[in-house]
Amino acid sequence: MVTIAVTAEAENEPRVAVSPDTVKKLVASGCKVRIESGAGSRSQFYDDAYTAQGAEIAATAADALNGADVLLSVRRPSKEDVEALAAGAVVVAMLDPFGDRGDLEALASTKAKLFSMEYMPRTTRAQAMDVLSSQANLAGYKAVVDAASEFGAAVPMMMTPAGTVPAAKAFIMGVGVAGLQAIATARRLGAIVTATDVRPATKEQVQSLGAKFVAVEDDEFKEAQTAGGYAKEMSAEYKTKQAELVANHIKAQDIVITTALIPGRPAPILISADMVRTMKPGAVIIDLAAERGGNCENTKPGETIVTENGVKVVGTLNYAGTVPVNASNLYARNLLSFINLMIDKEGKLEIDWEDDIIQGTLVAKEGALVHPNLTKSAS
Ligand code: NAI
Repeated sequence: MVTIAVTAEAENEPRVAVSPDTVKKLVASGCKVRIESGAGSRSQFYDDAYTAQGAEIAATAADALNGADVLLSVRRPSKEDVEALAAGAVVVAMLDPFGDRGDLEALASTKAKLFSMEYMPRTTRAQAMDVLSSQANLAGYKAVVDAASEFGAAVPMMMTPAGTVPAAKAFIMGVGVAGLQAIATARRLGAIVTATDVRPATKEQVQSLGAKFVAVEDDEFKEAQTAGGYAKEMSAEYKTKQAELVANHIKAQDIVITTALIPGRPAPILISADMVRTMKPGAVIIDLAAERGGNCENTKPGETIVTENGVKVVGTLNYAGTVPVNASNLYARNLLSFINLMIDKEGKLEIDWEDDIIQGTLVAKEGALVHPNLTKSAS
């Protein structure tokens, strides 16, 4: 029988790796699930909800980890925690593979099999396991709701006997999963929505959501999407043209949500401090790229600041974590689909090393980092 351990995350991480729903399914597939007491409480999953589905509640993290075959986590666990597992155990988490390299190597040295959910291939088969999508979607939604709340005026147009309230103008920068949900949410609230991206495929998506597409559509733009569906780092020339366009457009915006990311790189700066100076007092920028430095020059990751000209720049980290109930539910579902790949009919661990999902997400085994993205950067 496979024993799966789940521990409480750090103070700044309200999410949890299993939900009562996924515990039920894991137990039904023959696993034992051991959860540290209180691990789910910040997602409203209390110990009794877990035990009702067949989980065992452990008094401490050490009790949950002790000799377990699998550790399911939200964030990268500590070396000590991984050492407490069975030899060669499976660890599944958002390991932040580009973060603290020395710490990742130390984790690999435990000889655990480390799987990083951020590396999930963007294939149809892997969709149910795609944590970046499940979490970004919620972040995009919540960013707009927060922006509407921070904005000192109403979002939809209202015609009243006392006069007309104008609709707010919302600009979404970066139209991946978070950006698409931000557009849809801003539209539902009645904003006039524009959006930009460097990948041509996004133009039609933006328009189909009833928003207007604003971008530099030159030859480079036509080639900006990688085979994996991600954006490339753009040339200095493109960035200059893009900056001019954004500078003109942003002056009139009330709400700006930025989501632009390039895998493995710092977030591109799309809004300079000079551009922010031209914005209206009371305008709100929510920078969902804050975790990777931010898309706005003024962003202070983890803080909300108000500029001299009265623009609010929100750098809240872990946006998905601000809707922990849904974020944990969906994350737990992603992990369940993934771990199901490794559990055979008798409830035993059986890893198919030829599977592209296993290969794509495997970061380390037998004491060494093995993922091509990490071995390349080491050379
Ligand atoms: P992401 O989080 O890596 O980046 C967000 C957005 O920022 C992207 O649309 C990107 O093009 C854009 N961006 C990057 N640099 C920019 C710049 N200088 N200016 C403006 N925008 C910039 O992207 P995410 O959300 O991970 O989505 C990437 C793609 O993968 C999308 O096409 C998405 O639909 C696709 N996808 C496919 C899945 C599947 O087939 N299973 C699952 C999830 C996403």
